[in-house]
Amino acid sequence: MPPIPALLDPAAQALHQAAQQPSAPRFDIYAGIHKALRTLMADTLVRLGRCDLDHADDLRDTLDRTILMLDLMASHIDSENAVIHTAIEARLPQGARQTTEDHVEHQHSIAALHQDVQALRQARPDLRPLLARHLYRQLALFVAENLAHMHVEETDNNATLWALYTDAEIGRLEGQIVGRLSPEKVMAYMRWLAISLSTAELTGFLQAMRLGAPAEAFDATLALIKSELSPERWDRLATSLQMGTLVPTATPTH
Ligand SMILES: [Fe+2]
Repeated sequence: MPPIPALLDPAAQALHQAAQQPSAPRFDIYAGIHKALRTLMADTLVRLGRCDLDHADDLRDTLDRTILMLDLMASHIDSENAVIHTAIEARLPQGARQTTEDHVEHQHSIAALHQDVQALRQARPDLRPLLARHLYRQLALFVAENLAHMHVEETDNNATLWALYTDAEIGRLEGQIVGRLSPEKVMAYMRWLAISLSTAELTGFLQAMRLGAPAEAFDATLALIKSELSPERWDRLATSLQMGTLVPTATPTH
């Protein structure tokens, strides 16, 4: 893809350059979810690498996790296409071309990885090592491609978004993304956010949620986060949220 500034007139180009190094922090729509997805991808790859292929439960659980990762990555692509890329292209035609093209490749990779998982699931025991090595390598390439891709989104696409939209507008785009997801999918992402974000980042997320979401949803999210954090991290988060002895009332999801 040509660099985005080449697509802009001189005034817009200057604006774009300024947005790449904002003087004040801007709203980063990618930062949190990409941290979560990096953790999910890395953890899944490691888990696949150490899977005991002769242990039925380990193999099943590892392949189930791999499918979950692929499904959450596919859903993430769908959200970015439908909301972020649509917003960029509405004000800058072709402005999201590189990452849109990347997404098409990623969708092909996800379909192929689904087939690789299925092949390993159904394979005779003597064929599992070969198929597992193939799946592990293909997943590693997928992770590598996505790490590079997310960097482009967090630099080039963010700079474009910041040149085209205010923080309030970008915040509303994030609201649109969350609004498109089922409650189950929100919780599936939340688990990975909980273990990937700093206490300060989780505090900001929860403070915003406490203001805008129903109490039940807030409690359920808090319970899920608590179930994922060590007691020490949970104490730091509770202190940061100034919760005192307040504990979530909802049932942890797992
Ligand atoms: Fe993406």
